[in-house]
Amino acid sequence: MKFRSQKVAYWFFAACMALLVLQIVYGFIMGFAHMGLDGLHNWIPFNAARATHTNLLVVWLLTGFMGASYFMIPDEADRELHSVPLAYVQLVSLLLVGVVAIIGFHLNWWEGRKFLEIPRPLDYLVVVNILLFLYNIGMTVWRGNRFTTTGIVLYMGLTSAALLYLPGMIYFSNQTFDSYFRWWVVHLWVEGVWELIMGAILAYLLIKLTGVDREVIEKWLYIIVGLTFLSGILGTGHHYYFIGTPRYWLWIGGIFSALEPLAFLGMALFAVAMYRRSGRTHPNKISLYWTIGCAIMSFVGAGFLGFAHTLPQVNLYTHGTLVTAMHGHLAFWGAYAMIVLAIITYAMPLMTGRKLWNNMTGMLAFWASNIGMVGMTGAFAVAGIAQVYLERKMGMDFLAVQKEVEVHFLGLVLAASLFTVGILLYIYNFIRYGLPSDEMIGVNDMDASWAGVSHTQQPQEEKSSSLHATAEEAQ
Ligand code: HEM
Ligand code: HEM
Ligand SMILES: [Fe+2]
Repeated sequence: MKFRSQKVAYWFFAACMALLVLQIVYGFIMGFAHMGLDGLHNWIPFNAARATHTNLLVVWLLTGFMGASYFMIPDEADRELHSVPLAYVQLVSLLLVGVVAIIGFHLNWWEGRKFLEIPRPLDYLVVVNILLFLYNIGMTVWRGNRFTTTGIVLYMGLTSAALLYLPGMIYFSNQTFDSYFRWWVVHLWVEGVWELIMGAILAYLLIKLTGVDREVIEKWLYIIVGLTFLSGILGTGHHYYFIGTPRYWLWIGGIFSALEPLAFLGMALFAVAMYRRSGRTHPNKISLYWTIGCAIMSFVGAGFLGFAHTLPQVNLYTHGTLVTAMHGHLAFWGAYAMIVLAIITYAMPLMTGRKLWNNMTGMLAFWASNIGMVGMTGAFAVAGIAQVYLERKMGMDFLAVQKEVEVHFLGLVLAASLFTVGILLYIYNFIRYGLPSDEMIGVNDMDASWAGVSHTQQPQEEKSSSLHATAEEAQ
């Protein structure tokens, strides 16, 4: 890591790991409840477990994005972070708000709007927290010695995500209006501005891991941003089909959201192409796995499985069923969870000086969690299709259908167990890395003496640089 202040990212990543474990615990509580084993019902009813599960997901991903920013922005801007104490204040206050919200859910203190359940007073605290974060990162970019497209896209994505939190805080007494603006947060986050954050982290990792020229990778980033906005903004219409909005949304939503997979396809094709063009062998193989894996799995989960239910003719039947949960899991996992895990695996050796980048634990963590998540997606798909058929085609009662699909949740829990083994192995590796070390300050990613890099396919002039790989310096 180039700068001392990048160390702050470690604590954000550690918080991510803890919140992810808690999210999984609540996933299992719901998985068992779906099987009919709902012994905790009096203390943790399904609605509380669900709100806790999804909000923890959002909080750990945001914490991961913040950690990623604290690691990347000083590197991209080529200067120390504006204020390290502010970053710590911001982390602790974010966690405090999260804990209060979760306790609140268990005491029935919540707003009941899926994904925006956090009660209004806490929303204001979230806003203050995000403003502190943006100020800290913004000052670093502003006073930076270098402006890069990757840094600017990341900052734009973070700022827009903060702005788009606001429509969810307006009070409406009309449910259609309320739903309409709720989607500005939920949809325009995951199918809009979060894609910019993902694209920027992906670009950063590809620059570092493949050694392909920054110019080439950043040109592609412009294309991704363009495709995302072109399809994603009007694509919001795929949530306006049946909520009391005008009929033209059927067309607009259908057509534009059908184009959305292109942005994810673009990212997948590009990541693979960059990997194939890779001019050097980066020793951190496992981070490359997570990076390329993220680009591919996000296309499958978000692009392919999103498309599967985005046309109004299909959505009429699948809306709000377990088909949505099927897509929600693989999309969030592929796009956002995997990009956070990718940047963590990239940053840890650089922060701690330990080279745990090619071990069996890391590989097993990658494969077990991914195969487990694909299995979970399959279980949700089977349950979801059965639900659509019985409930929407045959007209059976909602609860009677839930009874019919109980058996598929055994499959879900089994696949989720494999997934959890993968995550626990990942965390085991994280713990083995230990704390960030001052000795790593100033050590560059590809310092030959430290990384033991094999410059097998490096051009001649790059080979000649002894300590700082020239390509890396230029980037
Ligand atoms: C990484 C990107 C994405 C993530 C994380 C994601 C996640 C989700 C989640 C969690 C929901 C449920 C939201 C709710 O009911 O409150 C949802 C709904 C939906 N998503 Fe995505 N999604 C992504 C991309 C896409 C794309 C690209 C498409 C279309 C091609 C799509 C199509 C849909 C549709 C049609 C629904 C509504 C389902 C319903 O009517 O119940 N999604 N998505
Ligand atoms: C390993 C353990 C996990 C289990 C057993 C599990 C199980 C569940 C269950 C049963 C639901 C509720 C479905 C319903 O409404 O009936 C749910 C919701 C959800 N989970 Fe998980 N989950 C797990 C991990 C994850 C992970 C790692 C992610 C993200 C990467 C995730 C993302 C979501 C999302 C986005 C929803 C809301 C879906 C929707 O809006 O329909 N879950 N989960
Ligand atoms: Fe959407």
